[in-house]
Amino acid sequence: MSEQYDVIVIGGGPAGYVGAIRAAQLGLKTVCVDAFLGKDGKPALGGTCLNIGCIPSKAMLDSSKQFHNLMHGFKDHGISADNAKMDVSVMVGRKDKIVKQFSGGINALFKANKVSYLAGFGKLLPNRQVEVTAHDGSKQTIAATNVILAAGSVPIELPFAKFDNRFIVDNAGALDFASVPKRLGVIGAGVVGLELGSVWRRLGAEVTVVEALPEFLATVDTDVARVAKREFEKQGIKILLGATCSNAAIKGEEVHLRFADKDGEKTLVVDKLLVAVGRRANSSGLLADGTGVKLDERGRIQVDAHCWTGVEGVWAVGDCVRGPMLAHKGSEEGIAVAEIIAGKPGHVNLDTIPWVIYTEPEVAWVGKTEAQLKAEGIPYKTGSFPFAAIGRAVAMNETAGMVKVIAHADTDRLLGVHMVGACVSELVHEAVVAMEFHGSAEDLARICHAHPTLSEAVHEAALAVDKRAIHKVN
Ligand code: NAI
Repeated sequence: MSEQYDVIVIGGGPAGYVGAIRAAQLGLKTVCVDAFLGKDGKPALGGTCLNIGCIPSKAMLDSSKQFHNLMHGFKDHGISADNAKMDVSVMVGRKDKIVKQFSGGINALFKANKVSYLAGFGKLLPNRQVEVTAHDGSKQTIAATNVILAAGSVPIELPFAKFDNRFIVDNAGALDFASVPKRLGVIGAGVVGLELGSVWRRLGAEVTVVEALPEFLATVDTDVARVAKREFEKQGIKILLGATCSNAAIKGEEVHLRFADKDGEKTLVVDKLLVAVGRRANSSGLLADGTGVKLDERGRIQVDAHCWTGVEGVWAVGDCVRGPMLAHKGSEEGIAVAEIIAGKPGHVNLDTIPWVIYTEPEVAWVGKTEAQLKAEGIPYKTGSFPFAAIGRAVAMNETAGMVKVIAHADTDRLLGVHMVGACVSELVHEAVVAMEFHGSAEDLARICHAHPTLSEAVHEAALAVDKRAIHKVN
C-alpha cells in the first residue's frame, strides 16, 4: 500500500516549501516532493527563487553595486581607489555559497518541523495519489487527503532564439557568466532583463535591451517608469523600444540579433544574449489523465479565490496559477491553503501584493496605477514628492526618484503607492500595511515619520495629496 499523508506538496519553491512548513506546524503529516537539482547536481530545495532567481540575483546585484560605487559612486564622498578589479569567479562563488546556505536552511527547517522530503519529480494521479520519480529513475506512489500543486514556472523560450546556455541564456545562465561579456544583448525590458542587465552593466558590459512594446515598463506608473528609464540610460544601459526581434544567429563567438523598429530592420551584434520575455506555468507532465484538474489557455492550473482546483483535496499555489509570478505571493498562498486544510480561515489579498524591481534606483509599488484607475473609471487624486528634497537622500547621494500616492477622490482611501528611488523595496511596505488596513492618504499624512529618513518622502507625498506638503511648493 502507498504511504499515506495528510498533505503532499509538489514543488519546494517559496510557495511549496512555505506551505509544507505551515501544514506541519498545524499538525498535518506532510511531505514535499521536489525535482530541482542544484549546480552541484544534488537535490536542492528552494525552487527558482532561491536557486536561480531572487536570492542569487540579489547577491550579484549587491556585488556589482559595491564595485560600481567604488569605481564611480564614492568620488563625491572623497573616496577613490586605483586599480579596482572585479574577480567574477569570486563574485559568482559568493552567490553560490549564499544559495547553498539558504537551500540547506530549508532542509533544516523541514527536519525541525517534521516535513518529509522526497527528491524527485511528482505527478498527480487520480484520487489524490502522487507518483514520484526519483533522480535514479525509480518510482513510488504516495497518497494524501490533500495535495498542493506548487510546480512554479519556467522561462519562455523564443523559437528563433533557443537557449544554448553558452551564448543565448535564460536568467540562470546570466547568473553564471565566467567573465564580464563585452557586449550583452537582452530581449525584454522586464524585471529579469533590467535586474540582470544592471548587474553586468555595472561590471562594465555594454548592455542593450530590446523591448517589443513601445512603452517602457508598460505596467508601471508612467511617472515612475519615466524616471527609471532616465536613470538606467544615465548608467549607460541602451533601451530600444518598439523593437520586434525576428532572429538570433550564433556566428563564431557572437550572437547576431535581428530586429525591426520604426527605423527599419537592424542587427545587434553581442557576445551574450539574455532572453527574458516572461515565464510560463510549469504544468507540463504534472497531471496524469483523469485527475479532473483543469489548465487555462496559458497552461496555468485553474483555481478559485482560495487556490482550490475544484477537485476534492487538490489545491494549487504560486507561479503555476493566476496572479503575479512573485515569490512572496506564492508563499502567502501556500500558508493560506495549509490553514484552510487545517480548518482555519486562510486568505490572500491579491490587491495588496507589493512589486519590486531591484535595480538602481529601485522601483516598488502596491495597488493600482493611474492608467488602471482611469480605465476602471475610478476618480482619484495624487500627491508626489521627490527624493531630491529629502535631507537623508541628499546626504546619501541618492537623490533620484520620487514617491507618488494615489487616493480615491471622494473617500481618500489609498488606491496605489508608487516609488522609484533608493531603498524603496523597504519603504513600500509602509504603504502595504496602510492599504491592508484600508487606510487613507490622510492616515499616512498624520503618521509621524522619523527625521531624517527616506520614509519622509512617503509622508510628504501623502500630505501632497491634499496639497499640503511642507518641503515643496504645492
Ligand atoms: P516580464 O514579464 O517582467 O518582462 C518581459 C518583457 O519582455 C516584457 O516587457 C515584454 O513586453 C517583453 N517581450 C516579450 N516578448 C518579447 C519579444 N519577442 N521581443 C522583445 N520583447 C519582448 O518577464 P521577465 O523579466 O522574464 O520575468 C519573468 C517573471 O519573473 C515576471 O513575471 C516577474 O514577476 C518575475 N520576476 C520577479 C522579480 C522581482 O520581483 N524582482 C525578479 C525576476 C523575475
